[in-house]
Amino acid sequence: MPFSSTRCLSNYPAVALPRVILGIETSCDDTAAAVVVEGRLRANVVASQQTTHRRYGGVVPELASRDHQRRIVPVVRQALQEANLTSRDLDAIAVTYGPGLVGSLLVGLSFAKAFALGLGRPLIGVNHLEGHIYSVFIEPPSPPFPYLCLIVSGGHTQLMRVDEGFRHTLLGRTRDDAAGEAFDKVARLLGLGYPGGPEIDRLARRGKPDFVAFPRPRLEGYDFSFSGLKTAVLYYLNRLPEKEREQLLEQHRADLCASFQQAVVDVLMETLRRAICDTGLRHVAIVGGVSANSALRAAAQRLAEELNVRLYIPPLAYCMDNAAMIAVTGYFKAQAGLQSPLTLAAVPALSI
Ligand code: KG4
Ligand code: ZN
Repeated sequence: MPFSSTRCLSNYPAVALPRVILGIETSCDDTAAAVVVEGRLRANVVASQQTTHRRYGGVVPELASRDHQRRIVPVVRQALQEANLTSRDLDAIAVTYGPGLVGSLLVGLSFAKAFALGLGRPLIGVNHLEGHIYSVFIEPPSPPFPYLCLIVSGGHTQLMRVDEGFRHTLLGRTRDDAAGEAFDKVARLLGLGYPGGPEIDRLARRGKPDFVAFPRPRLEGYDFSFSGLKTAVLYYLNRLPEKEREQLLEQHRADLCASFQQAVVDVLMETLRRAICDTGLRHVAIVGGVSANSALRAAAQRLAEELNVRLYIPPLAYCMDNAAMIAVTGYFKAQAGLQSPLTLAAVPALSI
């Protein structure tokens, strides 16, 4: 166990360290609950709201929080059923308290507080980004410390050095759009549905990555920038009159997807390559929704082989938002003696 500690939770000196953790995640548009027993995942339930938001082309915050309210109780109940446990068996409740949409966060956090209070169990607040960072501990193989971690999600793109449990150094971050945000915005420009990442990934498989040479912005240090790339796609389409643009999209949508995707992958891999060479770290994790991208996974594997480092990318179910990563992180926090007061507030812009 990577985060072992002999300390007990401060308010519970007489009891053993929590073994059974319920994790709750409602930071954006997925209502999720998971149960971890002694660090092992027992149940993982995700109710996606994609169909609610698809017709609007993105997440509508007010609809998201209402949907969370409807789903949170059945989702938690299902997770307990799948784990073959009752609420009385739980030793602690871990919950995402930021970053995310405030209305969405509040539903999960309020539920978790009430549940923890009612059961007389500790509450453990989890930073959603830490959840992604430790998503490589849900299933083996997991990296030893220190490791390099590239977080690529809809809201964040950052490169971290993870020194040990809950001690990390930020090496670089996006200065504008996150990688997933760029996928979603470009998908919209190309007339594809929400969320755009999976759609672009699927179409790009039959497209030519060298159809258009979109720019590969390279910044100082390990920072990223994706908004120029999105604008380049916009300009590429807008230089044509509407009719020709529609024809181009009809004939070459897959080629445009592949060309855009290749630019994102190249930028991420170039920065990762430099970070690996500069830091000398031999273990590299890629996490977050965009780590589900098939071209990114393949390119990262090639880079790892070339540089002789070990690569860790979670299985697809743990790339996208899920509560397994919150429950596992909560378990590690519990082992380290960390818990949160019941006054814990939702922090929409929480950083790491
Ligand atoms: O981690 P995540 O589920 O939520 C956030 O914390 O933001 O990431 C969602 C993002 C979305 O922008 C989605 O388009 C992107 O991950 N995504 C993908 C793929 N699957 C999801 N991007 C590229 N290729 C994919 N296969
Ligand atoms: Zn996420």
